[in-house]
Amino acid sequence: MDDTPQQPNPDLVGDLFWGIFKPQWIRMALQIDIFSPLAAGPANAERVARACHCNAYAIKTLLDYFCGARILDRRGDEYALTLTAETFLVRGRKAYVGNMILDYTDQAMFDSILESVRSGAPRALDENFVQDAWLESYSAWRIPKSLEMWQSAGIKPEGREHLRILDLACGCAIKSFSLAQTSPTVLVTCLDSPAVLQVARDLAERMAIASRVTFMPADLLTADLGADQFNAALVGQITHYLTADQNKNLFRRIHPALTRNGTLVIDCPMSTDPPSESASFLTLFMWANSGGTAHSFETYRGWLEQVGFRKIHQMSERWLSARKA
Ligand SMILES: C[S@@+](CC[C@H](N)C(=O)[O-])C[C@H]1O[C@@H](n2cnc3c(N)ncnc32)[C@H](O)[C@@H]1O
Repeated sequence: MDDTPQQPNPDLVGDLFWGIFKPQWIRMALQIDIFSPLAAGPANAERVARACHCNAYAIKTLLDYFCGARILDRRGDEYALTLTAETFLVRGRKAYVGNMILDYTDQAMFDSILESVRSGAPRALDENFVQDAWLESYSAWRIPKSLEMWQSAGIKPEGREHLRILDLACGCAIKSFSLAQTSPTVLVTCLDSPAVLQVARDLAERMAIASRVTFMPADLLTADLGADQFNAALVGQITHYLTADQNKNLFRRIHPALTRNGTLVIDCPMSTDPPSESASFLTLFMWANSGGTAHSFETYRGWLEQVGFRKIHQMSERWLSARKA
């Protein structure tokens, strides 16, 4: 028998809320816009404070904080943007993600979730998918990770004239572009909203594969995906936003769109029993947002079998694959 004295663990409680400060400091910095005054070149704290109409001592402290967070550099008493800050945090820049950060750190989002918890009724949260796509489009680590996903699903360009991939709700499409970069035989069709597709187009150009990408602005929930067109389809990080009926309807349209031995890959959080912390977090967020949830692998398998998919495998905690026949 364990005779260790039982002690309450204060760290578990601290972990529940101390993380709040980091998001609120960047929220404050974006609201007073400490990054734009540095866009023209390094400046000291007094200059930044004057440009932001704020107290010089407080601004110096905030600038030092972001140096510690590796978002700014300090040279003597002057502060300068890092490439990261220059790319993502200067208002008006192509890949500015400040609006998304402001949305996620706004108490209004949490009040809306609280209201859903009380009432039991999901209330659509307006997620900034465009800025999310910009941030993702620079995530270099996604490339090897995505190649691992395609490999575990047995999807390889070798030995075929063309490998046609349909990337549904593609975001910046880095997951399918990673495979396209490995071979000129890979052709990608990207489906998302027109604004998000502009990010995918920008990334396709940066990855030098734009001539092999087709952009399909459409609504995932209703789009006609055609017949016998694609060797593989990817549905990444969207099925947990969708209800059971929306997912079944989507899989029912993907099945005929695949060629005879075509493969569907789903990348999503999957619930386990007992549920993991991350799946439960996403379930609450998705449910409050859209009525979605982190569905289990067994649930996906049931839906996929109903519409005719076979050989349904769970490849990892987040990936599953299914064959048309
Ligand atoms: C969380 S992101 C996932 C992006 C990418 N597939 C991935 O795996 O990282 C969800 C994407 O779904 C897109 N999306 C959401 N609802 C959609 C709809 N009804 N039709 C088309 N795209 C949609 C959003 O614009 C966004 O790019």
